[in-house]
Amino acid sequence: MVKKIGNRIILSYIALIVALVGALLFLIINHIRGYHVTILKREMTEKIKFIELEIQNAPRRYLAGAVADREEQIRKLAEIVRLRVTLVDFNGRVIADSDYTDIDIMDNHRYRVEIKEALAHDVGESIRYSGTLNTDMLYIAMKSDAGVIRLAKPLREVNESIAKLRGYILIAGAIALALSSLVVVAISRRITRPINETVSFARDFSNGDFSRRIPNYTNDEIGSLQKALNRLADTVVEKINSLLFERHKLEKTIESINDGIAVVGLDRRVLVANRAFKELLDIESEVVGRLFFEAIRNRNLNAHIEQSHMTGTAAAFEEHFISGRNCDVFINPISGEQSLGGILIVLHDTTERKKIEQMKTDLVGNVSHELKTPIAILKGYLETMEPHLDDSDMIRELLQKALANVDRQSALINDILKLNRLETSRDFTTDYIDLREIIRSCIEILAPGAQKKNVSIRFNTDGQAARVPGNRFLAEEIFFNLISNAINYNIESGSVAVDMERSGERVTVAIVDTGIGIPEESLDRVFERFYRVDKSRSRATGGTGLGLSIVKHAADILGWKIDVSSSSAGTKFIIET
Ligand SMILES: Nc1ncnc2c1ncn2[C@@H]1O[C@H](COP(=O)(O)OP(=O)(O)OP(=O)(O)O)[C@@H](O)[C@H]1O
Ligand SMILES: [Mg+2]
Repeated sequence: MVKKIGNRIILSYIALIVALVGALLFLIINHIRGYHVTILKREMTEKIKFIELEIQNAPRRYLAGAVADREEQIRKLAEIVRLRVTLVDFNGRVIADSDYTDIDIMDNHRYRVEIKEALAHDVGESIRYSGTLNTDMLYIAMKSDAGVIRLAKPLREVNESIAKLRGYILIAGAIALALSSLVVVAISRRITRPINETVSFARDFSNGDFSRRIPNYTNDEIGSLQKALNRLADTVVEKINSLLFERHKLEKTIESINDGIAVVGLDRRVLVANRAFKELLDIESEVVGRLFFEAIRNRNLNAHIEQSHMTGTAAAFEEHFISGRNCDVFINPISGEQSLGGILIVLHDTTERKKIEQMKTDLVGNVSHELKTPIAILKGYLETMEPHLDDSDMIRELLQKALANVDRQSALINDILKLNRLETSRDFTTDYIDLREIIRSCIEILAPGAQKKNVSIRFNTDGQAARVPGNRFLAEEIFFNLISNAINYNIESGSVAVDMERSGERVTVAIVDTGIGIPEESLDRVFERFYRVDKSRSRATGGTGLGLSIVKHAADILGWKIDVSSSSAGTKFIIET
């Protein structure tokens, strides 16, 4: 239970008022009582002096004679002064008393305070409670020649008036207490409201409501505290935001790295794992927070992580993962403040590099094979010629065949060189070229070959120049090869349509043939070097399988898009600039 400041203020204040009223009561009552008693004492002293004078004037009447007479005289005096009068001799014996007739049985008064004082110092006084009269009594005694004269006065009236006064003061005190309590409650509310507001702000803020601030401040110490707290909250929020931003940046950076990256903590749980890591390991569920050997399904990798975890040593090896990817794996312990902080795992995908290495190996094999074949054929013809040197008809025929193979070899070498140039050279300048004119000249060159096969070529264009940014050499390579394929892989009496369309700056050219088509499974591969769907047929047409590779490279350099679709009715290549 929280102790409320407001309650404490109110209680302290009430205690203070009660103490004040009490002290006031005590002081006032003491003062007034003292005042009354002083006046009474003065009066009584006058009366004693009067009695003394009376006794001096008639000592016989009071001191000699029968006891009853003396008492009678004393009673008369008492009636005059309207007080109890007692006469005591110097030994303390009561000589006469206005209220008691039986003086013989009365105690010796020597030790009564007022008498004792009077005997010693001529005057004595005392206030005592009288059980018989049930009130305080004021006694004044004075030594005279005739003995000690004592007057007694009950203080009932004084006490009664003081009691009344006490009542008034208590009522006034209660009213003052009630009124001031109201004021104190109001003041304490004013003090505690901003404190409560501050407490509620602190509670909300620590519960995560970072937008919470203290709206109205008072112009005092609490107000300054509230302002300072608001500033503190701003700074905290700023710091949190910048930390979040930094974390976000780091996460995004790690996420966007192509290498797979993961960190395993000391408790063997995954702390970080980026997208590439999960992809390379073919993990679909969330891995952060899980034990690494549960999340990662690769025995060798897990064994290395565990090893590094136990010994703090790094490791590097190559691994083929279930995802089909090949990776160089690096495992490095991260050193923490004093001991090992975790294990960093980096997976560097080498699949593409391996593929390229394989392709290069294949290429060398293919090139050597392709270069060897025409030479072998050439050698065959030359060897056949040797024994028949005198048969000129045969020699002519064999010579023509041998020449055709030399052409083929040179075409092949040309294509290889061209492809190499496309792959390595960056010096293809960009000009405005007219595609209509380029396509038309390609068709012109290819027309005789088409005629031989009885293949008709139609060029559908709107008759206007189609100028686009590009490179003439590359564009010629693209259209020459595509149209030449459309003729070569066509049927007898087939047709080729070249459709050119313009939309704004861009030009789309479709080369559609009615040929033998490309089977579905080969569509992706026709752009590979030396790839031919039907080797024997391609060779018969003099093809090397490099034409579409050259087309693809040229289109890539120009930034043009190339698309192919095919069916049994023919093939369609689309070029978009
Ligand atoms: N229009 C087409 N119709 C049917 N098949 C085609 C067509 N164009 C290409 N092909 C197939 O794709 C293969 C690769 O074509 P590419 O142009 O690269 O080589 P090529 O024509 O055999 O030789 P090159 O063009 O180098 O003289 C061809 O061998 C052929 O099988
Ligand atoms: Mg070709």
